Amino acid sequence: MILVLGGGGQLARELDGLASARGVALTAPPRRELDITDTDAVAAAIARTKPALVINAAAYTAVDRAETEAAVAMAVNAEAPGRVAAQCDAIGIPLLHVSTDYVFAGDKQTPYREDDPVSPLGVYGASKAAGEAAVRAAAARHLILRTAWVYGAHGANFLKTMLRLARERDELRVVADQHGSPTSTRSLAEAMLLIAPRLIEAAGASASPLWGTYHFCGTGETSWHGFATEIVRAQARFTGRSPVVTPISTAEYPTPARRPANAILDTAKFAATFGHRAPPWQSDMQAAVAEILMEKP
Ligand SMILES: NC(=O)c1ccc[n+]([C@@H]2O[C@H](COP(=O)([O-])OP(=O)(O)OC[C@H]3O[C@@H](n4cnc5c(N)ncnc54)[C@H](OP(=O)(O)O)[C@@H]3O)[C@@H](O)[C@H]2O)c1
Repeated sequence: MILVLGGGGQLARELDGLASARGVALTAPPRRELDITDTDAVAAAIARTKPALVINAAAYTAVDRAETEAAVAMAVNAEAPGRVAAQCDAIGIPLLHVSTDYVFAGDKQTPYREDDPVSPLGVYGASKAAGEAAVRAAAARHLILRTAWVYGAHGANFLKTMLRLARERDELRVVADQHGSPTSTRSLAEAMLLIAPRLIEAAGASASPLWGTYHFCGTGETSWHGFATEIVRAQARFTGRSPVVTPISTAEYPTPARRPANAILDTAKFAATFGHRAPPWQSDMQAAVAEILMEKP
């Protein structure tokens, strides 16, 4: 059994769906059933489900709101993961903890590697960086998986916002000077289920080179403007709508939290260790647009 924390989120829902399609035993209670800040509730869930692996997909993900809700962001993204890691470690269960490109400042000229120093620009990134540190300190058997620009059919995300705006507006103004790699929940969930048996197997050994920090995101890179342009092109086949996508600068779209200009993650370590890369981000995006628009034409 795999226990996924944060079962209401877009990644967790994708994991849940994929696992049931594949006959993988996985349970993903949403926050109302299991709050990760409630240590006793997490202990009870672990005792009840007896998981071979815990995946922490729960997070406070409101990047801008985090600027004024630092205590909540830290409680969910930093303190709770540290306690979950300690609980897993005490009984020898591995923890797969999801983290983010926003732990980096974004001023590097090349893709970020796992061992580059973290230097978050905002409270959300700082809380996630603190969560990574807490997990590393509390559990030897951990895998921290940093990903970026996550979208999918479930939940709120940039792709779904662009689909809505493409319906409502004739012009979309989108930031062109922040770069990253769009990552579908489908590819991310597939990668996580692919590595899950390796982590479960490694947990039985006293030491394994598998534990540590990895990057996984869609293959290739673009800007938010490039991402939006391709989303608009993909949806046009279903809707016939072709709004203009105008590039703007970060300065023209001020937000409470600063975001990294370069959020591109180097995924070579994951590929070398697990022999797997995500598909090109464009093909994943097209599949997601088709899935969403064919469900809700
Ligand atoms: N979305 C992105 O672009 C992105 C990029 C890089 C990394 N990540 C990371 O990917 C992981 C999955 O994020 P996601 O995209 O699936 O975000 P999401 O859709 O916002 O899901 C996060 C889930 O965590 C739940 N949650 C919040 N506080 C909780 C608590 N105290 N106990 C239990 N559950 C709680 C939320 O519940 P409520 O809805 O009730 O608040 C939500 O269902 C996170 O670690 C995130 O930091 C995301």
